[in-house]
Amino acid sequence: MAISDEAHLRDWKHVLTLSKLQPGENVVVLTGEKSNATNLENSMRAVLGLGAQVCRLDVPPVFPEGPHGAERAANVGLTPIAGNRNAIELLKRADLVIDLMGLLHSPEQVEILAAKTRMLMVLEPPEVLARNLPCEDDKRRVMAADRRLRQARKMTVTSPGGTNLSVGLGQFGTLPEYGFADEPGHWDHWPSGFTSTWPSEGSGEGTVVIDRGDLLFPFKMYVQQPVRMEIREGRIVSVEGGFEATFLKRYIDAYQDPRAWAISHIGYGMQPKSRWTAQAMMDKAFSLGMEARSFYGNFLFSTGPNAEAGGSNDCRCHIDIPMAGCSVWLDDELMVQDGRLIAEGQRVEGL
Ligand SMILES: [Fe+2]
Repeated sequence: MAISDEAHLRDWKHVLTLSKLQPGENVVVLTGEKSNATNLENSMRAVLGLGAQVCRLDVPPVFPEGPHGAERAANVGLTPIAGNRNAIELLKRADLVIDLMGLLHSPEQVEILAAKTRMLMVLEPPEVLARNLPCEDDKRRVMAADRRLRQARKMTVTSPGGTNLSVGLGQFGTLPEYGFADEPGHWDHWPSGFTSTWPSEGSGEGTVVIDRGDLLFPFKMYVQQPVRMEIREGRIVSVEGGFEATFLKRYIDAYQDPRAWAISHIGYGMQPKSRWTAQAMMDKAFSLGMEARSFYGNFLFSTGPNAEAGGSNDCRCHIDIPMAGCSVWLDDELMVQDGRLIAEGQRVEGL
């Protein structure tokens, strides 16, 4: 379902206002060959409508050497602006970068944020953006979770399907996402709504069972047959199950990089507007799948790099796995119970 240009423009103005865009500020809209044309047009119109200045930076694609072709999500960390100093310096000078290309997990993004530029990544089509429009309350709840996560030294996760994972925390920072970029050096993603961090390197013991109905990204697949993974010293050491287990193993093995089996970011979804079922309605080619990553109360497990957090692992293989029905503890305090967020200050009343 499409939405009208008028409604889409209104959504962009809403999110840029939440991002505290001020008259006279400089905005760069970063685009690549897959950027959504409607997002490009209405983001620029919204910036102008709010009295700020805007230009577009379009960068041609690079064809990476990875085993799964040029798909962006199969080559995490490698971006078309790598080594392009002109482009990087322009983005660092902006007050706000609207990233319609996708610099996530790249060293260039780390450098741009260090220059105190605000960054907002937007890769979803307009109707997904409209359905997941952020609000100030999203930030309040996500930052409450972020404060709790920063204090935590251990995350424990269980599920009825057999997950029982314990991970040490404290080496790295956190990644709060609430859907708008309102503070200097803050990166965010519209749509989103979750809290996450990275395990201390080498930490993570137990079992993760990806259950029927959980999702595998970047494939955008709902799992049909449970996948059981054993974790030792922060790495996946075995993967067992049916078709999806075989698929996952072959996909990751193709990178020929043992670091691909490490745990990447972990956290939980907090966005009540996002739907677990949304991915089933989406054309894979036109959506990143953020809605199914952000849905309220999911545990988001992932594999691969931690370089974005300042760690040593910059492998190209990254899998996001939103899991429903899990319970999540920070230290000994229960945050998510059977897929329902229960923590004071984080939950949405009535859900
Ligand atoms: Fe991820």
